[in-house]
Amino acid sequence: MGLLSCSFLLLILMASIANTIACSNGECQASLLLEECSSDSDCQTGLYCFSCGLSASRCVRYTATDEFKIVNNSLPFNKYAYLTTHNSFAIVGEPSRTGVPRVTFTNQEDSVTEQLNNGVRALMLDTYDFEDDIWLCHSNGGKCRDFTAFEPAIDTMKEIEAFLSANPSEIVTLILEDYVETPNGLTKLFNDSGLMKYWFPVSNMPQNGQDWPLVSDMVANNQRLIVFTSIRSKQDTEGIAYQWNYMVENQFLHFLSHLSSFGHTYGNDGMEAGKCFNRAESAPLNDTSKSLVLVNYFPSIPVRPIACEHNSEELIDMLNTCHGAASNRWSNFVAVDFYKRSDGGGAFQATDMLNGRLLCGCDDVHSCAAGSTSSSCGGP
Ligand SMILES: *[C@@H]1O[C@H](CO)[C@@H](O)[C@H](O)[C@H]1NC(C)=O
Ligand SMILES: *[C@@H]1O[C@H](CO)[C@@H](O)[C@H](O)[C@H]1NC(C)=O
Ligand SMILES: *[C@@H]1O[C@H](CO)[C@@H](O)[C@H](O)[C@H]1NC(C)=O
Repeated sequence: MGLLSCSFLLLILMASIANTIACSNGECQASLLLEECSSDSDCQTGLYCFSCGLSASRCVRYTATDEFKIVNNSLPFNKYAYLTTHNSFAIVGEPSRTGVPRVTFTNQEDSVTEQLNNGVRALMLDTYDFEDDIWLCHSNGGKCRDFTAFEPAIDTMKEIEAFLSANPSEIVTLILEDYVETPNGLTKLFNDSGLMKYWFPVSNMPQNGQDWPLVSDMVANNQRLIVFTSIRSKQDTEGIAYQWNYMVENQFLHFLSHLSSFGHTYGNDGMEAGKCFNRAESAPLNDTSKSLVLVNYFPSIPVRPIACEHNSEELIDMLNTCHGAASNRWSNFVAVDFYKRSDGGGAFQATDMLNGRLLCGCDDVHSCAAGSTSSSCGGP
C-alpha cells in the first residue's frame, strides 16, 4: 500500500473516530434531529430531510430502534411493540402490472423491502383472488380490478422471505385483510414463496390471555413469521390464525377527523381525540383474553400532506388513550400510513415509547438499555 493511500486511510479512520466521539455522549442524534437541512445527506445516519407541512425542512427519523438488540429478546413476543405499516403494498409510484393505469389510493412511499430494512415489523396486506392468482389490491366490494391491483402477492412474499433469511433474529407479522376464496390459496402462496419454513403455528398461539412464547425461543425455532387472516374459517381449514381470536384492535380514523368541525359531526366514529374504540370485528379493547393489542392511527382515506401531523404528537396521544381503553395495556402494533412522515421522531419515537413502557416503564426504550427501571428513567 502506498504512503498516500495509507495516510488517506488514516484520515478516514480519524474522521470516523471523531464522529464516534461526537456521538458517544448520546447527543449526536439529538443535535441533528430537527436541525434544518437541504438534502438527506445533511442528516445523521437514520435521519432524512423532510418538511412537515409548510415548515422548513428538518432532519427527521426514518429508522426504528431494534428493541431486541438494544435491550434483549428474552421476553414473550407480546411484551414488545412493533412498527406496522397500513396497506404496506399500496406504494406511491408503483408501476401498473396490469397494463391499465391504477385508480386507487396509496398509503406508503417505499418498497416493502425498504420498510423492513427501516425497522417495520408488521405489514398490513390486502389479499385477493385475481387473474388465477393471488394479488395485493386496494379495492372495494372484495373484488380486485385491473385498475385497483398492485402486484402478485408472491412478489411481496419473496421480499419478506429475503428479509427473514438475511435477518435471522427478526420476526415479521402479516395482518391480512383477506378476500381470497380459492381453497388453500394462501397456503400455496406461502409454500411457493419459501415462507412456510418460518411459519409460527396456530397451536403455539395463546388463547386465553396468556403470554406468547419468548422471542428468543421463536428465533431459536425459526418460527419467525406470524400470519393473521380476517377470514375466521381459515384457522380450521388452513391453520392460519383468525386475527381477532388473538388481538384486539381499535377503529381507524374517519377521514374528516382532522377537521374539528367535522370531528364533532362524526363524533361517534371512534376517531375523536381522547377516545379509543374497538373496531367492529374486534372484541372490546379491554378484553384481556386476547394477548395482543393493535392501535391503528390513520384516516379512512390517506392524505399525504397531513400524515406527518397524524404520525407525530397526535399518535403518541392516541397510544396513551388506547392504553387506558385496553385495560392499561400498551399496544404491540402501531399501524400508520406514510410511516416515514413526521415532524421529528414520528411513528419511530412512538414505537420507542411503547417499548420503553413495555420493557422498563420508561418513556423511551433507549432508557431500558442501561437496565433502568421506572424509578430510574431520569428526565422530568
Ligand atoms: C405445501 O407444501 C407441502 C409440503 O411441501 C405440501 O404437502 C402441500 O400440499 C402444499 N400445499 C399447497 C396448497 O400447495
Ligand atoms: C370493558 O369496557 C366496557 C365499556 O367500554 C365496560 O362496560 C366493561 O365492564 C369493561 N370490561 C372490563 C372487563 O373491564
Ligand atoms: C431483558 O430485558 C428485560 C427488560 O429490561 C429485563 O427485565 C430482563 O431481565 C432482561 N433479560 C435478560 C436475560 O437479560
